[in-house]
Amino acid sequence: MPASPFIIIAIDGGAASGKSSSSKILAEKFNLLHVDTGSFYRHITYELLRRGVAHTDATALNAALADLKFGTQLNGRSAQMLIGGQPAGQEIRSQDVNSHVSHYAAIPEVRHTLLAYQRDQVNVAKQHNFRGLVMEGRDIGSVIFPNADFRFFLHADPAERAKRRAAEGGQDSIAERDRLDSSRKAAPLVVPQGAIDIDSTFISLDQVVEKMSALIAPKLP
Ligand code: C5P
Repeated sequence: MPASPFIIIAIDGGAASGKSSSSKILAEKFNLLHVDTGSFYRHITYELLRRGVAHTDATALNAALADLKFGTQLNGRSAQMLIGGQPAGQEIRSQDVNSHVSHYAAIPEVRHTLLAYQRDQVNVAKQHNFRGLVMEGRDIGSVIFPNADFRFFLHADPAERAKRRAAEGGQDSIAERDRLDSSRKAAPLVVPQGAIDIDSTFISLDQVVEKMSALIAPKLP
């Protein structure tokens, strides 16, 4: 029997649209590396805030970015970014990071710093014998992997998303982050051309995953 191909699944969508929940289930189901690129932007944001580097200070920002040493470790099936050998903690989900992350993520140099690192997750997945990877974010199907085997875009009504985030116990500026992420010049949040659009407002997480799995399964028996 021929070996099954290595597959790349891109899942994009706004804040709290169900990307993490669905991609974690897909990773489990199909033996894929799960890559949450939002956690990478959050970790960098946390580190820059810790160093006192404002997103408006281009000189300090570029010097700090050049100084960051990235690594990756696995946390179950998820890729966890290391900065200076250190993994991020729960503090990357804090209100402080929530309110700053989109400002740092809008800066082309920040995005450029992460570009090769994100693409290199394919090698991490191969080294650990995963059958592929599922990467979630804002620009995965449009910029990072425009030739991914599957590109999904998750929609959900903003009120429903705010309800989901509140149910997780989180305080988040969802609408403001979406506004900044969609309106920035560098790799804005867009529905990539040809992506499979799924509106999860009135369907359960299981149904979202079922829709995705029905398309993926024939390629990964
Ligand atoms: O996915 P999450 O909501 O944790 O992402 C946090 C922030 O990181 C987003 O609001 C966005 O500003 C940024 N981000 C991005 N591009 C990605 C993933 C996240 O700009 N691919």
